[in-house]
Amino acid sequence: MSIATESIEFFDYHPKPADFYQDVVEGLKKEQKTIPPKYFYDQKGSQIFDNICMLPEYYQTRTELNILRDNADEISTCIGAEALLIEPGSGSSHKVRTLLDDVKPDVYLPMDISKKHLIQAAQNISNDYPWLDVYASCIDFTDEMHIPAKLAEIENKQVFFPGSSIGNFEPRSAIGFLENVARMIESDGGLLIGVDLKKDENVLHAAYNDKQGVTADFNTNLLERINRELDADFDLGGFSHDAFYNDEIGRIEMHLVSDKNQQVNIGDHCIEFEKGESIHTENSYKYTVDEFSQLAKNAGLTLNRYWTDSSQLFSVQYYTL
Ligand code: AVI
Repeated sequence: MSIATESIEFFDYHPKPADFYQDVVEGLKKEQKTIPPKYFYDQKGSQIFDNICMLPEYYQTRTELNILRDNADEISTCIGAEALLIEPGSGSSHKVRTLLDDVKPDVYLPMDISKKHLIQAAQNISNDYPWLDVYASCIDFTDEMHIPAKLAEIENKQVFFPGSSIGNFEPRSAIGFLENVARMIESDGGLLIGVDLKKDENVLHAAYNDKQGVTADFNTNLLERINRELDADFDLGGFSHDAFYNDEIGRIEMHLVSDKNQQVNIGDHCIEFEKGESIHTENSYKYTVDEFSQLAKNAGLTLNRYWTDSSQLFSVQYYTL
């Protein structure tokens, strides 16, 4: 199961491939039509997301990186020496670079579902940080998380979960994920997590309705992807991007709204849309520090320290058991 590549050791836990067709058809047959947001991230969608992260309105990415950089000293004190640094959903392992020189963990273990991307990113880290032991685990971290047996004996296990990805989980699933983290870090470890904060609605609205229309393209790419991969005939001009802050629930909702009465064929299925009916494509929950620490408490985690920017847009929080 473990393969030594040039400079890293790779563990393949063979995550179950998602059933895109089944998930799309099932979601579109619900009263409130939905498509799971994980399907945003095909190659084109991932590229569009990288562009979102550079938008002037999308404050999250640069604010989090600044918080990590500005507080690297204190963060490394929290994480401590001889750490195994675990990153679920590590993608291109970009953000961890802001920490490595200060934290100096013994071992870095990125985890991702996309094998090719994971191995490439881990090898890049290994080349750029030759003093670091780099492993890689191919898993679906929303399902289960494994630490390879040979790393299990490292006492100081620290999980890094940046990007406010936790905001895309329903609160109940967020607690489930945090419970898995708590199980993994045991009594000597910790969790460093990026959490997007509640704030002025106009700031949130602009972040998900950018002027250049990049977020709208990100949303619409879902329909393009379904056409490309699932033999479907969505009229791409017949749906509009809609993102708004749902104040009662405390989340941004993204939808694709049908501009007319229409029918769409997907394989053998025909789906009817009324004018104004939407497909709900994503939730992005926003929390106060207090709200999130209460949620984490349900998973047995206690807030130790947190850092924010001067405008209180974003937070990086550190938890232990
Ligand atoms: C990945 N995730 C944290 C982003 C968010 O802000 O919820 C996804 C995104 N959707 C639209 N813009 C960005």
